[in-house]
Amino acid sequence: MTTETTAQVEEPGVAGSSTLTITDNRTGRTYEVPIEDGTIRSTELRKIKLDESDFGLMTYDPAYMNTASCRSAVTYIDGDRGILEYRGFPIEQLAERSSYLEVAYLLIHGELPTQTQLDEWTYLITNHTFVHENIKDFMKGFRYDAHPMGMLLASVGALSTFYPEAAQIKDTQLRYNQVIRLIAKMPTLAAFSYRHTRGMPYVYPDNDLSYAGNFLGMLYKMTELKYRPDPRLEHALDVLFILHADHEQNCSTSAVRSVGSSQVDPYSAVAAGIAALYGPLHGGANEAVLRMLRRIESTHNVSDFIEGVKAGNERLMGFGHRVYKNFDPRAKIIKRAVEQVFEVTGKNPLLHVAMELEQIALEDEYFIKRKLYPNVDFYSGLIYEALGMPVEMFPVLFAIGRTSGWIAQWLEMIDDPEQKIARPRQIYTGGRGLEYVPIADR
Ligand code: CMC
Repeated sequence: MTTETTAQVEEPGVAGSSTLTITDNRTGRTYEVPIEDGTIRSTELRKIKLDESDFGLMTYDPAYMNTASCRSAVTYIDGDRGILEYRGFPIEQLAERSSYLEVAYLLIHGELPTQTQLDEWTYLITNHTFVHENIKDFMKGFRYDAHPMGMLLASVGALSTFYPEAAQIKDTQLRYNQVIRLIAKMPTLAAFSYRHTRGMPYVYPDNDLSYAGNFLGMLYKMTELKYRPDPRLEHALDVLFILHADHEQNCSTSAVRSVGSSQVDPYSAVAAGIAALYGPLHGGANEAVLRMLRRIESTHNVSDFIEGVKAGNERLMGFGHRVYKNFDPRAKIIKRAVEQVFEVTGKNPLLHVAMELEQIALEDEYFIKRKLYPNVDFYSGLIYEALGMPVEMFPVLFAIGRTSGWIAQWLEMIDDPEQKIARPRQIYTGGRGLEYVPIADR
């Protein structure tokens, strides 16, 4: 097929008009397609047909490399300039001056809260941290070595059975109740899954503590009557939650939107997001970084390792990003948080390996040419490890932070009149009209 598309034709398009003129060389016909926000609507291409019986032209875009699936006012990213903003606020300011719960409010409501609104929001979240006792029994059913992410995924999905009214997604008050519950209960479920893998009794939430402090308490509380988190560690964890809160239409967010577009309850939609995040190409990269640093072991081995990367033997994990081609703004913030955490926990010798790797890579032509810079995962694993987390918990921590983003995107989708059930097309490549052969004759 020789259908030709160009945005710069002289004839018959008019220079300066916001349209795209397409000539279908199969038929010689010309079409004019509106351009809005630097985008054309794929459905406009359906007008381009060979004849009346033709379905019309489609676009083929595996992995959505060049397809906008929604309009969104939640998160803005400019990958070339290293910009990340939630609801228009730069991530640097939020990480430095806000708190995770305030950021969650911002993502979900679209604007920063007043003090009264924040107090009410914090009160609501804090007072919904408990889970039904049956959830505990449900979690006890997992094998002793169950992956905590698998447990989180299953238990979040199970919440829909405890709150059947969550299916009424058009009821704004009921919907809001589930928003509160999801953000409030996620750390409780995450901590229970961790304690389960350790064979330790689950710890109930302590509503005197902050969101991050309570999570640390549910992870680490032993015989003490009151768990008191170190404020520096509590703050570092809060910052990590902020940095992971949203990242526009990534794999897990697209999963939440796609599953949510069937109008299922939000617990099921968020469980789909957790499933997507579970994969090593998404939430698992920080774990890979830590394993890589452990394998390199000492700064003496760094240059050999870099040579191996340049020779194409392996990748420098925690480097490079599909969107950020200058720097990942989250990486810069995390690097500062690493230093604060190590003031409390003592330095992890792997930090030296990480810093040496970073320095060599940033000066090396191979990495400069390919625009490879440290991403959010390069240092986050070191913080998680310093906080005492096993690597299996890394994606679970990511999921806690990302919950507010998933919900904000889900809410936006529910109210978007243009959204319908997600249902991509395909290019069929299989056989047709075959004759069924009885099994004995095959
Ligand atoms: N180490 C060495 N070389 C690399 C790396 C790396 N980490 N990343 C990319 N390259 C090279 C790649 O070999 C290719 O080279 P060439 O042009 O010679 O073939 C070039 O850079 C372009 O790579 P690409 O794979 O086409 O880039 P991509 O945009 O498809 O991949 C990425 C992005 C993040 C998957 C990739 O950079 C990578 O695998 N990084 C390591 C894994 C990692 O840290 N992932 C976490 C991403 S941040 C988490 C999040 O935001 O959710």
